[in-house]
Amino acid sequence: MKPFFIIGNWKLNGNTIFVKNYINKIKNFLNKKKLNYCKISIAPSYTYLYLSNIYLNNTKIALTAQNVDINLSGSFTGEISINMLKDIGVKYVIIGHSERRIFHKETNEYISKKFHIIKSNDLIPILCIGETKLEKDMNQTKDICAKQIDVILNDQGVQAFNNTIIAYEPIWAIGSGKSANPIEVQNIHKFIRDYIAQKDLNISKNIIIQYGGSINENNIDMFIKQKDINGFLIGKASLTAENFISIVKKAEKIISSIH
Ligand code: PGA
Repeated sequence: MKPFFIIGNWKLNGNTIFVKNYINKIKNFLNKKKLNYCKISIAPSYTYLYLSNIYLNNTKIALTAQNVDINLSGSFTGEISINMLKDIGVKYVIIGHSERRIFHKETNEYISKKFHIIKSNDLIPILCIGETKLEKDMNQTKDICAKQIDVILNDQGVQAFNNTIIAYEPIWAIGSGKSANPIEVQNIHKFIRDYIAQKDLNISKNIIIQYGGSINENNIDMFIKQKDINGFLIGKASLTAENFISIVKKAEKIISSIH
């Protein structure tokens, strides 16, 4: 069985004290409770990855980066390469987040290059996809998701999706306080899995499909119960260790009651 993978995306938040306290609290929690169904990760900003990696030493908490450059080295002022991330213990890299698509004008083609550089250096991409409110209202969600996946499928083939994560994040649900409907999310997740299955059944079975968009402790139940929802990418509700831990605790409880 795939672990239910919960990632806290801290976005542009935190400082050294925050990192220390947060990780200590999670470590204390994990010392008391063994996770049987969930896997967890945090995604601090670049500046705190190194420190986080030191604090995370000897724990099962994986380290996720929020971004990466498409180049390995050279004259690219302000950029961070995949080798640098690997060097400081990063395992997963978020790409295609709508905040980068919107505020940094990242295109599907550019995101595909990031996907490639991550995969070819043996780290794991978390590819964020999802539609705007307007696209949802026009019933275009599946087309948009397919298009965002297609660029990578066409450039790199289905094999590139082996051991990767897709995070379905409807843009209108992110940071809005209003999550999507879990049944509708299940429908989209199934569509995504079937879409990959048309090319390779095994890869589609193994792919982790997370949901992200205003997830919190009070709305996770129905999401967790859906067959094709394999984890969460959480922004706001991951910004205190207490909230993050409550979500993980509750997820463990719900999943244990299903099995
Ligand atoms: P949110 O963010 O949980 O604050 O909606 C999710 C995300 O952007 O990954």
